Amino acid sequence: MLVPESFELTNIRLRRPRLSDAPAIFEYGSDPEVARFADWPRLTSLEPLLETLRRREILWNEGLEYYWIITLKDSDRAIGAISCRIAENAAEIGYLLNRKYWGKGYATEAARAIVDWALSLAEISLVWATCDIENIASIRVLERIGMHREKILRNYRIRPQISGQARDAYLYVRISKTGTIKQKQHKI
Ligand SMILES: CC(C)(COP(=O)(O)OP(=O)(O)OC[C@H]1O[C@@H](n2cnc3c(N)ncnc32)[C@H](O)[C@@H]1OP(=O)(O)O)[C@@H](O)C(=O)NCCC(=O)NCCS
Repeated sequence: MLVPESFELTNIRLRRPRLSDAPAIFEYGSDPEVARFADWPRLTSLEPLLETLRRREILWNEGLEYYWIITLKDSDRAIGAISCRIAENAAEIGYLLNRKYWGKGYATEAARAIVDWALSLAEISLVWATCDIENIASIRVLERIGMHREKILRNYRIRPQISGQARDAYLYVRISKTGTIKQKQHKI
């Protein structure tokens, strides 16, 4: 599988992360509004973030999860991120953005690029994402890029910033045009 290290889009650029991105990531990862619907506790220090960035490098090299920083075209500073986790023939996407940059279409642009790329791969027949049923901005992003609301997942995740109770989520999917994938050649 050929995985692009970067994507040049109309208004934004996606690129692989570096440890030096940590302060910019911390700015939005520690923001209670950005982390509101997350299933992780919001960031309160840099050290776990550095550890996560190191782990992301391993996951990328193992082909398990790809993760790109979102920047504006004229600046290298991280304003958000988008991930694509691969399991068998399915790819799961997730994204988040610094609050200063909400409502400008950047998440839609990033998500569309990654979903189109994933579905262009012979190995991938399905892209999916979940989001909390009250996460209106994320629902809009998923619907704008042609994802279909497949079903509701009852009690799917605890969102620690909201409560300790598991909350409902929507499952969104987009399938490849053919729905068929190249069979892997297994060596025996
Ligand atoms: C979800 C998120 C990435 C959307 O980013 P964004 O760049 O603002 O999205 P877009 O500008 O592409 O806009 C998407 C739509 O949501 C709307 N929107 C943006 N912020 C909103 C808000 N706070 N409340 C309601 N709608 C909102 C936009 O107006 C747009 O709607 P439209 O299609 O009717 O014009 C951003 O809100 C975010 O980082 N949220 C926190 C992290 C998160 O929830 N990630 C998703 C986890 S599933």
